[in-house]
Amino acid sequence: MKLKGEHVFVTGGADGIGAAIVLDVAQAGARVSFCDVNVSGGERYASELTAQGFQIIFHQGDVGNFESLKSAHDAIVKELGSVTGLVNNAGVISNADPVEMTDEEWNNFFNVDLKSVWHTAKLVLPSMRAAKKGAIVNISSIHARMTYPKYFPYAAAKSGVIGLTRNLALDEGIHQIRTNAVSPGYTLTPLLEEWFSRLPEKRAESLAVQPMARMAKTSEIAKVVTFLLSDDASFVNGADWIVDGGLHCRFA
Ligand SMILES: NC(=O)c1ccc[n+]([C@@H]2O[C@H](COP(=O)([O-])OP(=O)(O)OC[C@H]3O[C@@H](n4cnc5c(N)ncnc54)[C@H](O)[C@@H]3O)[C@@H](O)[C@H]2O)c1
Repeated sequence: MKLKGEHVFVTGGADGIGAAIVLDVAQAGARVSFCDVNVSGGERYASELTAQGFQIIFHQGDVGNFESLKSAHDAIVKELGSVTGLVNNAGVISNADPVEMTDEEWNNFFNVDLKSVWHTAKLVLPSMRAAKKGAIVNISSIHARMTYPKYFPYAAAKSGVIGLTRNLALDEGIHQIRTNAVSPGYTLTPLLEEWFSRLPEKRAESLAVQPMARMAKTSEIAKVVTFLLSDDASFVNGADWIVDGGLHCRFA
């Protein structure tokens, strides 16, 4: 029960890595809230976990829109109290062409994958500062270090997430608020499956380069997030935990 007494807020918790984080932090004893743009999926998942005895609430919330995020945040705080642990997980990929991409597409993408990390911090930091305690985990990606053709400008957003993690770690550490990033490699989620469904040859290609001859289960990412949220990581601040089965060690 590493997270007993905590209220952890997870963005994009209805599916994929976020859903595994919701479950893992709940199993660690936290009260959990999560938002998602997938309302039916979020409601279904929350009632499934509530029926299992966990204290979990879902609220509709689009991380790319500050007003939507704020109304989700206000509602969950009303019900479960101030957020003491935040997980910025919601994200989308981008496979844009740098010539064809419009300003609107650029802004929509960066609003979700990068600006949301600032917006959630803006919402949770006042109560964390007052409590002199808090933990934030931002989900970046292996793409922050090395990327893949036709992923424009995903690498820029995920590198930015690590940059914001450093800024927050330095500025908020004085308030005993720790901010860390987790950078997953290939993880079996609907996001990855959607990419494989568009480009079926990528499945075997991606598997062939995995040092552990497999991709990650979502629970393997979630366990690291729970650790970073917990007091077991009480002096871990500003770090980026790579959870990719060793893929970043590979030269070619
Ligand atoms: N799957 C991978 O291999 C992988 C690898 C590295 C990093 N990541 C990162 O992990 C995070 C989760 O990815 P995933 O693979 O679980 O994705 P996913 O698409 O399987 O699930 C993402 C969840 O976030 C929700 N979501 C999407 N946009 C949202 C928004 N604007 N507001 C609120 N919720 C929103 C979706 O509805 C969904 O429930 C993302 O930040 C992604 O970039 C994934």
